[in-house]
Amino acid sequence: MLQNNRNASYTMLILAIETSCDETGMSLLQASGGVTKPKFKVIENFVSSQIKIHAPFGGVVPNLAKREHLKNLPILLKRVMSHESRVPPKARLAKGGMSQVDLIAVTVGPGLEPALWTGINFAQKLSDAYKIPIVGANHLEGHLYSFLLPKKRFMIHESRVKTVFPAIALIVSGGHTILLNMKSFSRWKRLGETRDDAAGEAFDKVARLLELPYPGGKEIEKIANRGNANSIVFPRPMMHDNSPAGAYDFSFSGLKTSVLYYIKNNPNFNKADVAASFQKAAFDVLVWKTIKAAREYGACSILLSGGVAANKLLRKRMKYESKKFGLNFFVPHFTYNLDNAAMIGAAGYFALARKKRYSLSAMGNLEI
Ligand code: KG4
Ligand code: ZN
Repeated sequence: MLQNNRNASYTMLILAIETSCDETGMSLLQASGGVTKPKFKVIENFVSSQIKIHAPFGGVVPNLAKREHLKNLPILLKRVMSHESRVPPKARLAKGGMSQVDLIAVTVGPGLEPALWTGINFAQKLSDAYKIPIVGANHLEGHLYSFLLPKKRFMIHESRVKTVFPAIALIVSGGHTILLNMKSFSRWKRLGETRDDAAGEAFDKVARLLELPYPGGKEIEKIANRGNANSIVFPRPMMHDNSPAGAYDFSFSGLKTSVLYYIKNNPNFNKADVAASFQKAAFDVLVWKTIKAAREYGACSILLSGGVAANKLLRKRMKYESKKFGLNFFVPHFTYNLDNAAMIGAAGYFALARKKRYSLSAMGNLEI
């Protein structure tokens, strides 16, 4: 059944569960190839969004998130396991079908601990009831590996490892902004991170200043398309910091504050111009530092992931700069940028293959 072999050619059926924040995710996927030739096939990938519930509060309320996860998890399990004609025979999970699942992967952190616990407890009960091995997955590793997930259901994505590594990976989400120097799917070194707000957090806060709906990232992108990105010169914090301590760190809270002051001092400000200029300032820093790292460390590719990677301008700019410097560029398909369980299945599979055992308890500040 379960293989720890690094070159496992065995195809494993994984049930993955994600409840780290405000999205309840459940996915059924197949994985094989181990850490050297990973291959994934996504059979089902459901995300139950709680946006409407948290929107009136302008952000995620942990106890409401917990309540919703508790409600959504059994519903999603039923959907994922239902006998549908679209599901291929190996995964056709009719009566007693849970026995076909080889591995349960569940997010153990980072995230909101009450929310994480709902997924962990649910996964543990399933594991006990059906005697299925379970692994804890790191949410950030999920984002990191999400570019390996095929864009269409049932399609296999086989990355040519030679074209990926060494790589510089930028993870930009609502809680993190991290730059990694990766030697392989299992070996990396952290080069830098944000010292205050994460990139996505800055988007959400600026959106609030502009009175745009929650969650703000995609609203900023939408409105920025109508604005002039060169109309306001906002600061590019730490962009030219070449000190050993700061060369690959980020800071977005000053940028957000400068947007606040601009709005206060210019009562007739143009929302689209502010959004476009803010977005440009944030992306200038992200793209500059990522390319700088790739050149310094002799990378052959750039990996971009996390919720902010859903932004078309960031994808375009990072791709353009990568090409300019002869680097390959990898970014997840749009389905897998925001929190989802398919990426947790990939992270769980890699954790197993790497023999990286996370404890099955909620770790709000788990690092990568
Ligand atoms: O990865 P994710 O779904 O959750 C975390 O792990 O944090 O990322 C969510 C973040 C939010 O801050 C959201 O505003 C941002 O990603 N985001 C975007 C866009 N779509 C989502 N930021 C900029 N442009 C977007 N299109
Ligand atoms: Zn995330």
